[in-house]
Amino acid sequence: MNTNLMLGVPDIDHQHSELFRSFEHLISADMSEDVISDILSRLTLQICSHFAAEERFMASLMLPDSMLHDHHQAHQKIVEDLTQIHLDTMCGQETPVEKMISKVAHSVSNHLVVYDLELKAYIQ
Ligand SMILES: [Fe+2]
Ligand SMILES: [Fe+2]
Repeated sequence: MNTNLMLGVPDIDHQHSELFRSFEHLISADMSEDVISDILSRLTLQICSHFAAEERFMASLMLPDSMLHDHHQAHQKIVEDLTQIHLDTMCGQETPVEKMISKVAHSVSNHLVVYDLELKAYIQ
């Protein structure tokens, strides 16, 4: 992963790089319709478990309450968007899976730059 995107917190950096590996892998994989739901479930689980770990880490920092709140809201928004994508596919919306994954990858990497890197200033 690009070192500019690293927080300097090994566990969190590792999770970020694993997430980007998953995105790359999923975007390049040739997937049949019947595995999409399973893939989206696993991706949602990976993202949710990263967000939970990051929020536990954030709780150990001296962050302003508003920052904690906004960051949490931003995590929720990504999970909601992912849930909506999942629902859309279950309802038969035929968006190519790599396009959906690219959209999620884009919002997660944007989140990393806007919210996660902001934590750097609070890490000793
Ligand atoms: Fe975050
Ligand atoms: Fe993160």
